[in-house]
Amino acid sequence: MLSYNAIQRSELEQWSFTETEFNLLAQGKCESVMSLGNGYMGLRSATEEAYIGATRNLFVNGTFNRFDELEVTELPNAADVTQVELFIDGQRFSLETGKVTDYNRTLNLRDAELTRSFVWRSDEGKRIQFEFRRFVSKHDLHLIGIKLQVTPLDEGITLRLASGINAQMSNSGSQHFHEGEKRIFNKKYLQLVQTTTESKVDFVLSALHQFWIDGCQVDLEPQMEIERRKMEMVYTMELKAGQTLEMHKLVQVHTSRDSDSHASANLESLRSYSLEALKQAEAAGYDRLFEQHQQEWAAIWDRYSFEIDSENRFDLLALRFAIYHLMVMTPVHDHRMGIGAKGLSGEGYKGHSFWDTEIFILPFFIYSEPKIARSLLEYRYLGLEGARRKAKENGFEGAMYPWEVAWPSDGEVTPVWGAVDIVTGKQTKIWSGFIEQHITSDIAYAVWHYYQASGDQSFMDECGYEMIFDTATFWASRLEWNEEASIYEINEVIGPDEYKEHVDNNAFTNYMAHFNMQLALHYYDELKTRNPELLSSLDSILNLAHSSQEWQEKADAIYLPKPDERGIIAQDDNYLLKQLIDLTPYKSQSKVGSLFQDYSLDQVNEMQVSKQADILMLFYLLENRFAPELKRANYDYYEPKTLHDSSLSFSTHSILASDFDDKKLAYELFRRATEIDLGPHEHSSDAGIHSASLGGIWQCVVMGFAGMRMLDGELHLHPRMPESWHRLAFPLYWKGSKLECIITKDQLEIKTDCTDEVHLVIYGKRVSFTGQLQFEMIHI
Ligand code: BGC
Repeated sequence: MLSYNAIQRSELEQWSFTETEFNLLAQGKCESVMSLGNGYMGLRSATEEAYIGATRNLFVNGTFNRFDELEVTELPNAADVTQVELFIDGQRFSLETGKVTDYNRTLNLRDAELTRSFVWRSDEGKRIQFEFRRFVSKHDLHLIGIKLQVTPLDEGITLRLASGINAQMSNSGSQHFHEGEKRIFNKKYLQLVQTTTESKVDFVLSALHQFWIDGCQVDLEPQMEIERRKMEMVYTMELKAGQTLEMHKLVQVHTSRDSDSHASANLESLRSYSLEALKQAEAAGYDRLFEQHQQEWAAIWDRYSFEIDSENRFDLLALRFAIYHLMVMTPVHDHRMGIGAKGLSGEGYKGHSFWDTEIFILPFFIYSEPKIARSLLEYRYLGLEGARRKAKENGFEGAMYPWEVAWPSDGEVTPVWGAVDIVTGKQTKIWSGFIEQHITSDIAYAVWHYYQASGDQSFMDECGYEMIFDTATFWASRLEWNEEASIYEINEVIGPDEYKEHVDNNAFTNYMAHFNMQLALHYYDELKTRNPELLSSLDSILNLAHSSQEWQEKADAIYLPKPDERGIIAQDDNYLLKQLIDLTPYKSQSKVGSLFQDYSLDQVNEMQVSKQADILMLFYLLENRFAPELKRANYDYYEPKTLHDSSLSFSTHSILASDFDDKKLAYELFRRATEIDLGPHEHSSDAGIHSASLGGIWQCVVMGFAGMRMLDGELHLHPRMPESWHRLAFPLYWKGSKLECIITKDQLEIKTDCTDEVHLVIYGKRVSFTGQLQFEMIHI
């Protein structure tokens, strides 16, 4: 069970959460939600001592490898450095034996530090105090620091401690590494090399241990062990009652995929660079290294400073939790890398990126740190190569983005086989990689969104126009002409609702394809006068003169489903004709996907039941194309049929509920989104945290409760705070200026240090100001 009130340090209230009792059967929960990282690497928070059921993961972003031709590429699980085995008077220490008191494991979000402490009474009756600390440095992206303290409280003990680097790891059995060289320098510095089997990425891990007894540094003679894929040091010492042993373990992780210059040299120089970096870390010492890390995090929180005065103090904690994980998982250092659907916190989704990034996470960066948003879009620009290949392989033109992507040029990496089919007992085929095609226009949409909010012309000139033009060309070649109806259709797809496969004219897909082609036409016309040189150079590679005619002709004749007499837009050609079933048992399920205990995906395909927001997502993205009453009617039709079996669902529903001024519902759905990872479910995060949902939590607050939207290039605010909230303050970046928004029950205040006039639309009214603006709240 997690506790959300700072138990030991009151200054960490709303900055930390704590596991108050060790739960052997739910280790995945804390391992994921308390995971550490810095965008370069992610470290799952398994305990130092080993237990059955634990999952140790260290992922370095971008180091994808393919186990064999029957599997898709994934982020390999690198060697473990967190395990420390402790033996007390010859007995292996474990929380499964003896008695534990004062247990707490805490993630401190403010300092990005994991701590664990407790008193353990051995079966022989000796009480020992344990304290552990861990961080993955935000200052030195290659550094991991681990600290432990052991104090026998009643009588002396003999303590044996085994710690090292263990490459006997795998991804659920798939071993991604060749056995590499291992070496111990000066009986002190451990170094292990591992190279991925197919992508041939070299990993170099270097580690050292330092010891203090009651504050005095001691040199302990280690017993050195090197085994197959593993090396460790074993230290033995006597501790008197009341004496404290402190161990610091410092680890450096480098790979040949790193963008720093040393990585491009040979393995030998990478190895000496890593060793040198370890020695420098040693000279600085754990405490100084931690301080530097803390300073970086202080700067992060300064930039993303949110204030929420809510009757539920959990709300601010939940938002900080979301921002913490977004920062921990995002490779801000390297535009060749994306954000995995589980970040770097677990094996789930293999480290692959989805539309989760562009639609759910990117808005947070667009409005909080646009340069990171740009880097994430550049990753997609680098992915054009794989997208063009996918289009060609499928008989289309232009750029057809992969549903799942790993290394940008790899192209499609969606696995083909998934969960069990309850009827046949076989694995269900995953069709997304073939027919979930809306990702292509989602990316074009994200480019447009970023450009509108940031005004970053150089990005558009270097990448953005090309992405929008070539994605439009894909759609133009993808459309199918229906002679009888004289319209262009898109058949055989999966829309955002993955419980409907092989559908025709999924409304979301058709409208977004239309948006994509119109956007291309708009920029094509604009460039003719604004930058004809750029247009002509793009024309020479993309054949724009011809393509633009196609975009025009097809955008004019694409089928865009319209509302029926009840005001309902069909999610696809057949959705409204499908069978209705009683979803009550599944609506109150404790575990997502319970429907599949009773039905196969083929059967679900024939029912009016949805996994997640589909058409409602369209209303959010292309907001001003649909009337408010229409949105409400469709919400009321589709929500009861939606199981929210995807973590992407609650936030979209919450934002729409805010749009309808249903504050109670919007808040309820926000809370459900916050509980996906941070809530009481013991296994919801086993495979890793839910990245998109974390971006969605930010969107519930900023796009929902503050009513912020970019519409037709203008920034709108329309606050509708939950009743239990008294104040909300947050920063926003808009066309290069920082705005600080403060919303109370009575007033909306915006401050900026920008000297130019800022133009906004507040409650539908255009306003311009410099310095500060105060607006009386409209009470609805
Ligand atoms: C959802 C997708 C999402 C993916 C990764 C799936 O369950 O249906 O929309 O992109 O998870 O988060």
